[in-house]
Amino acid sequence: MTEPILLDYNNMMAPRLGGRGIEPARLDAAASRFRAAHEEVRRRRENGELAFFELVDQEATIREILAYVDVVGQDFDTVVVLGIGGSALGTTTLQNALLPAFWNELDDAGRKGFPRLYVLDNIDPTTFGAFLERIDLRRTLFNVVSKSGTTAETMAQFLIVRDRLARAFGDDAFKRHLVFTTDPEAGILRRLAREEGITAFPIPPRVGGRFSVLSPVGLLPAALVGIDIRALLDGARAMVERCDTPELGANPAGLFATLQHIADTALAAPIHVMMAYTDRLYAAADWFRQLWAESLGKRRDRTGAEVFRGPTPVKALGATDQHSQVQLYMEGPFDKTVTFLAVREFPTDLPIPHAYPGVEALAYLGGHSLAELLQAERAATAQALASQGRMNMTIELPGLSAHTLGQLLMMLQIATVYAGELYGIDPLDQPGVELGKQLTYARMGRGGYTAPPAPRPDPRWIAG
Ligand code: PA5
Repeated sequence: MTEPILLDYNNMMAPRLGGRGIEPARLDAAASRFRAAHEEVRRRRENGELAFFELVDQEATIREILAYVDVVGQDFDTVVVLGIGGSALGTTTLQNALLPAFWNELDDAGRKGFPRLYVLDNIDPTTFGAFLERIDLRRTLFNVVSKSGTTAETMAQFLIVRDRLARAFGDDAFKRHLVFTTDPEAGILRRLAREEGITAFPIPPRVGGRFSVLSPVGLLPAALVGIDIRALLDGARAMVERCDTPELGANPAGLFATLQHIADTALAAPIHVMMAYTDRLYAAADWFRQLWAESLGKRRDRTGAEVFRGPTPVKALGATDQHSQVQLYMEGPFDKTVTFLAVREFPTDLPIPHAYPGVEALAYLGGHSLAELLQAERAATAQALASQGRMNMTIELPGLSAHTLGQLLMMLQIATVYAGELYGIDPLDQPGVELGKQLTYARMGRGGYTAPPAPRPDPRWIAG
């Protein structure tokens, strides 16, 4: 499935929303601003600052990954990714979208001999401890993923796992259960890889965490479970080529960024909901939530002035959240856009049987299918929102394949750097998470870090 994905933004436009929404003239006027944003992105890309674009051409890395998979593939029936944020969400997205549902519950034949895949991002000891108790270490490969090689959560997980492996297999043999994905030069993981002889794949230096899904961060675990990583990159490359144009109307990432930016800054709609109408893209909505939030939520603009900018992304799932969120989207404040993630075709479908012909509340369902019902609910929700002047758009994938997912992931990454230009902020940094990290280091006694004492809580403001 290599057809292009579509962006239908009819329901963002004022003539479709009874006057609310974006006036066509405003979108036309935004075209020249977009042209400038596109030019700046092109310049930064040529400067090597936006290295995620170049991930579409990494044949040597693909060959290295596939060679590694060939060698170790048969040895393990479980792969565990240890990583967090951008080092985890992309892999979960690939797994969720491209592997059969309930993959980890299938037997070897069901998985065609490929391993189970778990992505453990959090450090809740109840989950992490329980997980380690129930796996067979002898048949498990741990992929430790950290660009910086210093992230406290991932390093803590690594230390626990390393200790268990070393105790189980001895000081040397444990290493074959580990593979790192990290910076090619810097960081403690790279040093350990060199000193201890542990295999390590490189994350290109200028590819940041949330833009790394198409680097070995996502590609290695994907290849280990049999996902077609070349097709993924082919799809991403097709999107890079589509977005080569500075013409707003022909550039899907440009349109997505521009529409969201106008909604936020001109129409007071800073909440950007991504609502997947297939379970298989729910993790993609989660991945997008991090990409949009961490890239665009910034205190300072590119000149250093305080601006406190950034939309708030929200993830949702159809049809489930029709029974949870849609009331708010329909009748709450006009502060949101909703982007539906749709697939034109489902790989499997279930007919709904005819039964109870005399019971109208059931009879109308008979003869249809679950996919038809889900598609009808998506179309109905979009129409209902539009009828109430609620901005919404649909990204439609012809079907869900490595190629179409590659297109989607690349489209949203390119949109994020365009949006960075439109907001006037740097989408590649995340200074706002530093302070919390430093205070954590200080509380955990890391050398060189001190924290001012936290103010004593006032008992008048504690209930219970
Ligand atoms: O997007 C980002 O940069 C972050 O979300 C990082 O991916 C996250 O903090 C993990 O960092 P690292 O890969 O260095 O362990």
